[in-house]
Amino acid sequence: MREIEERAARTYRDRFAEDPEMLASAPGRINLIGEHTDYNGGFVLPCAVSRRVAVAAGRGGDELYSANFGEARPMTGEKDSSWADYPRGVYRAISAAGGEITSLRAVFAGDVPLGSGLSSSAAIEAATALALDALFGLRMERRELAVLCQRAENEFVGVQSGIMDQYASLLCKEGAALLVDCRSLEAENVPLDLKGADLALLVCDTRVERGLADTGYNDRRAACERAARKLGVEQLRDAREEDLERLSGEELMRARHIVSENARVLEAVEALRARDFHELGRLMCASHASMRDDFEISTPELDAFVELAREAGALGARLTGAGFGGCAIALIQEDRTDALAQEVLRAFERRGLGEPAFYEFLPAAGAEIVTCS
Ligand code: GLA
Repeated sequence: MREIEERAARTYRDRFAEDPEMLASAPGRINLIGEHTDYNGGFVLPCAVSRRVAVAAGRGGDELYSANFGEARPMTGEKDSSWADYPRGVYRAISAAGGEITSLRAVFAGDVPLGSGLSSSAAIEAATALALDALFGLRMERRELAVLCQRAENEFVGVQSGIMDQYASLLCKEGAALLVDCRSLEAENVPLDLKGADLALLVCDTRVERGLADTGYNDRRAACERAARKLGVEQLRDAREEDLERLSGEELMRARHIVSENARVLEAVEALRARDFHELGRLMCASHASMRDDFEISTPELDAFVELAREAGALGARLTGAGFGGCAIALIQEDRTDALAQEVLRAFERRGLGEPAFYEFLPAAGAEIVTCS
């Protein structure tokens, strides 16, 4: 059992003086490549990180308790713009889809950094969904649960995010990335054996806070929809490179990122299958340049990390997630991660940028039921 799962179970026992009936956990994610393509019906290639949200749950009562925040909130309560909105939204979405949930008490504990772009929100949604499904014998498929988690986020929490994060948290496998076709919702695990190639993914959390709701996320989404309308296609997934000539200004820039990024995801999958990590790295760098110049979602901190990583010999580096702050990743020789982190710390200080945090990880397991009594 992972430490975070033990913590959720222990806190449950302390609070309710009995063992939880169900213990489940779900990871945060990074995205290797394919950014802002999900809501354009395109392709993404995320993988799960080793930081997770665990939930210990049982039937009876109406309580959600966060061990991180030390506070309890009712599951059936209205939206209150707190952490509890994520499990609440999932409860509502599952109920609306016909899943009968009579009562619940649940304790959450997590070590996914909050608001950093590693999708702590998808992790809490996915852990909740999996636990509810098992506890109430709903027998929903993971894909269906992921769609309901996204609905919770779109309709209850009020963030117009795509499907990537929930799919990643529920469907990723250890040692693999997950190729998702965000239109058909087909997903496939693609082996990502970094260890065998002496490589690692270093995550740099710039700790520049970003909230999806109050960033340019919704603006980007609207610009993509406008561009698709102008091109007469349902979604930018359907646009071809030669169509871009018919666009100009902001719409051209946004659409050019999406069209080229979709192609890069498919090329990255080919590179992974051929174990060509240099090609994967090249595609990651091209993706970053496209997000910086065309999609305009990078920041000086993210750009600085990518540049320093490349100077330090990383095969590739890019911002990951929604952008506007948050995290970047570097694909680098395993024995060079410490040196890169040290160099980034020094360079950020010299340049007057805030102190970042680092996490190193290998592609981890998706959501799991840990025990069920
Ligand atoms: C956030 C959203 C995802 C996706 C990414 C950008 O993480 O939740 O759906 O759009 O941004 O790729």
